[in-house]
Amino acid sequence: MNGDGSQSVTCGTCHSSAEDLVVCTRELSKRFDDIVAVSNLDLRIRRSVLYGLIGPNGSGKTTSIKMLVGLLTPSAGSAEILGRTVSGRLRGSNVGYMPQDLAVYPDLTVHENLELFAGLHSVDPKTFKSREADLLRMTDLETRKNSLVSHLSGGMKHRVSLACVLIHEPELLFLDEPTVGVDPELRVGFWNYFQKLKTQGRTIVLTTHYMDEAVRCDIVGMMRSGKLIAEGTPSELMASASTSSLEDAFLYYARGGTY
Ligand SMILES: Nc1ncnc2c1ncn2[C@@H]1O[C@H](COP(=O)(O)OP(=O)(O)OP(=O)(O)O)[C@@H](O)[C@H]1O
Ligand SMILES: [Mg+2]
Repeated sequence: MNGDGSQSVTCGTCHSSAEDLVVCTRELSKRFDDIVAVSNLDLRIRRSVLYGLIGPNGSGKTTSIKMLVGLLTPSAGSAEILGRTVSGRLRGSNVGYMPQDLAVYPDLTVHENLELFAGLHSVDPKTFKSREADLLRMTDLETRKNSLVSHLSGGMKHRVSLACVLIHEPELLFLDEPTVGVDPELRVGFWNYFQKLKTQGRTIVLTTHYMDEAVRCDIVGMMRSGKLIAEGTPSELMASASTSSLEDAFLYYARGGTY
């Protein structure tokens, strides 16, 4: 019991206070036959944090996220999301997941896709209307609202996918390369939107290959060959590596902390 009479909640995975801990993993690992995709991943992500996972192709970012949202069963280790042990696919409306591959319906219009995702999460019609307007503006799809998704360009489809995952404003968002293929001007708009969600107390875990985005994260986790090789604020990571760029910092940690 705390001094103010409130009950302390303890994370069942790491046994630390779980009040602000929204993601907690312990030695989370995944093997695909002889490939070790993720190895002993220990993540602690706090509420209202924008956490960026970075690393080269095949370093285990997507596999990690898929285990966190319950789409892949870990080979070893455990994970807790919002205080609940992950076992099987996460249900409920407080978690959102945007996969790396598109997850929208090509034979529906942009509006119909948004309506479908809103319906799945029981967003009331009035809230839907205002959020849809905001998201169409943010993704610059206002004029394409009634276009079939199959008629949109690749980058536009990606923007629809992001709008769909944001329509129910979940407490915790996993976004796997949310800005890939999106032009630079719109990417700025996306990031402003992510910052807004953060100030509302939402937590965002995303992957990116863009270093100009990684530096905008509160905490960056660097992955290589399935392992978390470094973690910290972008400035901490660059300072410890004595560099002024995250790319160089990554190379430093990838070499085991030497030049
Ligand atoms: N379903 C699967 N079956 C077998 N191997 C897989 C499977 N999914 C991923 N892998 C392997 O696991 C490793 C990690 O892949 P993962 O998709 O997690 O990497 P990533 O960091 O997300 O890469 P990218 O930046 O290219 O998206 C890779 O070697 C990949 O080939
Ligand atoms: Mg990936």
